[in-house]
Amino acid sequence: MATYPTKRLRRLRYNSTLRDMVRETTITKNDLIYPLFVVPGSKINKEVRSMPGVYQMSIDVVVEECKEIEKLGIPAVILFGIPDHKDEVGSGAYDPNGIIQKAVRAIKKETKRLLVITDVCLCEYTSHGHCGVLDGERILNDETVDLLVKESISHAEAGADIIAPSDMMDGRVGAIRKALDDEGFTEIPILSYAVKYASGYYGPFRDAAESAPAFGDRRSHQMDIANANEALREAETDIEEGADIIMVKPAGAYLDIIWRVKEKFQMPTAAYQVSGEYSLIKAAGKMGWIDEERVMMESLTAIKRAGADMILTYFAKDVVKYLEKNR
Ligand code: PBG
Ligand code: ZN
Repeated sequence: MATYPTKRLRRLRYNSTLRDMVRETTITKNDLIYPLFVVPGSKINKEVRSMPGVYQMSIDVVVEECKEIEKLGIPAVILFGIPDHKDEVGSGAYDPNGIIQKAVRAIKKETKRLLVITDVCLCEYTSHGHCGVLDGERILNDETVDLLVKESISHAEAGADIIAPSDMMDGRVGAIRKALDDEGFTEIPILSYAVKYASGYYGPFRDAAESAPAFGDRRSHQMDIANANEALREAETDIEEGADIIMVKPAGAYLDIIWRVKEKFQMPTAAYQVSGEYSLIKAAGKMGWIDEERVMMESLTAIKRAGADMILTYFAKDVVKYLEKNR
């Protein structure tokens, strides 16, 4: 085997044309999924305090936003809803005229190719902010799954293209798959939040979705950040139950998990660059402490290099603008 001075790894780094030719990982528009927050009312476009550049939008505004996203060439959005009324059992989540159901119908009417993914969970809809129905302070698994199934079916009926359960209850993927199939939605894929950690990086999201738990935390259903083997068991379970795409969340601090899940299962794998990851980069960029664009691209390239086939990111529009500028 050649060694220095014959072997010189710098030969392929001397100019940008060469570097472009040997690059192993490239971010394209097709990798991106853009999260959106829908609120009741009209003409509302309210910036989220802890997420500069991210807005809560009423349905009329979200429809215009989706037309722009489609024009930019981003293939998909994922919707989160903030209902006008919350209760113990999160009934706004499965109301046929709930905020998400109305938003999906409006967006599907005004766009052609854009895929609408809906997040399925109860925490935005419950008065206590927990992801399921409670008995005292315990989240009841199977009772919650029944409601998640209702929520999923109502999203499918409204025209959702992909259903994305984010709740981390046991057995929900299988139950949702069966119900979708029984109702004739055999062709709607499930993008499962298969490996979702109980992470401090979700802080700003809870501002955006107004879904902070009133007491306690989410550690009784989301995964312990210290565990990796368990991530493989979670992914395996969801695949067995019929998930079409599996997600790891958060992304940047869990690149090892993305890698292991991709290596082991070879499934279409999504990663969620979550609110805290976004806000940290935005904040340091605003302070002038880092080059925001550069770190944005570096963070996303790392996630893709680790094995993600698609990335949910609040930077999606910024990335498309960056790619056009640097063509
Ligand atoms: C709802 C849900 C959360 C996120 C996506 N779906 C919040 C949570 O679990 O507390 C977080 C996304 C983000 O931080 O950007 N279960
Ligand atoms: Zn939840």
